[in-house]
Amino acid sequence: MLKDSFGRNINYLRMAVTDRCNLRCQYCMPSQGIDIVDRKELLSYKEMYRVIRVLSELGVDKVRLTGGEPFVRKDFIHFLESLSFNKNLKQISITTNGALISPHIPKLEELGIHAINLSLDTLQKEKFKQITRRDLFDETMSTFDRLLKSRLRLKLNVVVQSGVNTDEIADFVELTKNNRISVRFIEEMPFNGTGQRSVQENWNFTRILQTIERSFPHFNALPEEKNSTSKNYQLDQALGTFGIIPAFTRTICSDCNRIRLTATGLFKNCLFDDGVFSIRDFIRAGASDDEIKKVFQDTILKKPKNGFDAEKNRKDKKVSESMSTIGG
Ligand code: GTP
Ligand code: 5AD
Ligand code: SF4
Repeated sequence: MLKDSFGRNINYLRMAVTDRCNLRCQYCMPSQGIDIVDRKELLSYKEMYRVIRVLSELGVDKVRLTGGEPFVRKDFIHFLESLSFNKNLKQISITTNGALISPHIPKLEELGIHAINLSLDTLQKEKFKQITRRDLFDETMSTFDRLLKSRLRLKLNVVVQSGVNTDEIADFVELTKNNRISVRFIEEMPFNGTGQRSVQENWNFTRILQTIERSFPHFNALPEEKNSTSKNYQLDQALGTFGIIPAFTRTICSDCNRIRLTATGLFKNCLFDDGVFSIRDFIRAGASDDEIKKVFQDTILKKPKNGFDAEKNRKDKKVSESMSTIGG
């Protein structure tokens, strides 16, 4: 079991398999994209597989694959297939923008992928193009429809953007009436790769909730789930639920069970830290499994008690980073 120095059990790895993406969401990166790294600098699938195996022997039983967009990396499905043989992993989940995945859904079901978190900020074609700077709405909606019909557990991630999609909040909640999905509204964070803090902090948790209350006066708060990023609610009789991720107004650090690896193998104890060491360089220098275990155990002891507060008090805030590099 991996434990940090505050007694938190670390069992959840978020692994970015690439920093590349087929979209250019305004809140994530500038229109020209970000400086992507050379392929040689990325962890190979073999290296990723090994790191995940070693971590799974230490008690990590949940892996979320993120990006960039994980499906833009060649042979990602084969990688998933190999991971699915790791019996220590109880959950393999993916966060994706969905544009490329519609044909792969049966395979994902067959591999026992646990859940898909689909990033979808609008239900309108023109607005999709404005937000993502790409014309892939139809492909994304086709994925959404097929996911709804699949056995995969589905969450929608909606980044709430002032003056852009706040008029659609009720439409997204409406979707939960007849579909077994969880819609999560995310407060926009300042990770847009531009170095400029574009976030309109006025669209916070409370304002999102009040907006929902205006359209749906009656709904129920669901019990707090340990380790959940969102506070969740449900309309009466609804098949699905909705929630709000208070990304910048509230901390979820006290029961944080997560660690992160970027696509280049930079290990992060926290969404907000700069990366503590390069597991890639360590492996490529010939480290044994036991040495890798030791370095993880030691590094996790440095996990901050509250990375969120630390970030708030930092002068050089990490605004120049893109969520696509961090892995969400
Ligand atoms: P589950 O595994 O389903 O709980 O997913 P998740 O909500 O952790 O992950 P997802 O990739 O869907 O990310 C949703 C939002 O939560 C993104 O905006 C992430 O950046 C944010 N998020 C994920 N982990 C953390 C975290 O440790 N701290 C904070 N503040 N935000 C996080
Ligand atoms: N603020 C909040 N959420 C973001 N995401 C990407 N960039 C931001 C941001 N600046 C979300 C994506 C994806 C998840 C991993 O992170 O919508 O669903
Ligand atoms: Fe790609 Fe996700 Fe960033 Fe959009 S938010 S550009 S889909 S990585």
